Amino acid sequence: MKDTILVIGSSGQIGTELVMKLREMYGNNHLVASDIRPSSLEVMQSGPFEELDIMNEARLHEIVKKHNVTQVYLLAALLSATAEKNIELGWNLNMRSLSHILDLGREKIIKKIYWPSSIAVFGPTTPQLMTPQYTIMEPNTVYGISKQAGERWCEYYFNKFGVDVRSIRYPGLVGWKASPGGGTTDYAVHIFHEALKHGKYESFLNANTTLPMMYMPDAIRATIELMEAPAEQVKIRSSYNVSGVSFKPEEIAAEIQRHLPAFEMSYQEDYRQAIANSWPKSIDDSNAQEHWGWKAEYDLSKMTDDMISNLKEKY
Ligand code: NAD
Ligand code: SER
Repeated sequence: MKDTILVIGSSGQIGTELVMKLREMYGNNHLVASDIRPSSLEVMQSGPFEELDIMNEARLHEIVKKHNVTQVYLLAALLSATAEKNIELGWNLNMRSLSHILDLGREKIIKKIYWPSSIAVFGPTTPQLMTPQYTIMEPNTVYGISKQAGERWCEYYFNKFGVDVRSIRYPGLVGWKASPGGGTTDYAVHIFHEALKHGKYESFLNANTTLPMMYMPDAIRATIELMEAPAEQVKIRSSYNVSGVSFKPEEIAAEIQRHLPAFEMSYQEDYRQAIANSWPKSIDDSNAQEHWGWKAEYDLSKMTDDMISNLKEKY
């Protein structure tokens, strides 16, 4: 029997794109989108949608039963910047959502789980260049602490209960279809919209803040390649390092100026600068390459070309 997938957090930056890709692969009726708020028109009109607050475990069970769900992609979370502003909700949502889903795996109600981690699991004492898979991890944000705890729980449920849970430590994601949901890397999406609408942008990170990033088509492909890989190839059950492209605000500004020569960039750091300073600058993803063949396709200029041509059409 064909799997049916539940995506929780389908209205967010990743869900908006991941749902459509999975519907293409599995068939529209085999992908149930869900969120506390409505998703994009495309998602709402192309297949089933259920309103779900993931904190409500009874409602989760009802939806899983109703649609005979066999796989869950859990995307609902508070991201780094938002979680710093609402510590309690950040911790509760990020941890309880995961424990509800891991328990469905332990009870053998569902057979496969995807849960994303983040480069935020690393902290100020982590080596920042080509950050290894296994290294010092002392995250100092609510979000990073929740992701690190989540990774430990995923590995624990795999080892103790045989739960097939898979995870990627996404870098900052850049895409044109949906707005980002309150992260430290959001500047790299806002900059394109502001460049096209107003010809200028004020960055909340300073010019020199190099961070690991990834273009959304690469992130969606990494997610699906990991989830479709034979179980024996998925040797890391905490979360995989994956690398896309690293750049700093002044480099992305220069790329945008190739297309829009009059574009002006200015800088005004805020509280997100300290979060960015604690994260890696580049990532060593050799385990993902060796275990399930990961390789990113987009560099900074290819990403910029694609962002600008899609957003030009949108505006
Ligand atoms: P997002 O904020 O854009 O989307 C999250 C979605 O979850 C939103 O649509 C929101 O309405 C929904 N949600 C919030 N509370 C909910 C609840 N109680 N019940 C159900 N839904 C709820 O986030 P995203 O960028 O799509 O990120 C998805 C996942 O990927 C998160 O776990 C995030 O930590 C991780 N991640 C994202 C990035 C990135 O750059 N976007 C990087 C690293 C990791
Ligand atoms: N892009 C995310 C954030 O900034 C990283 O997990 O929160």
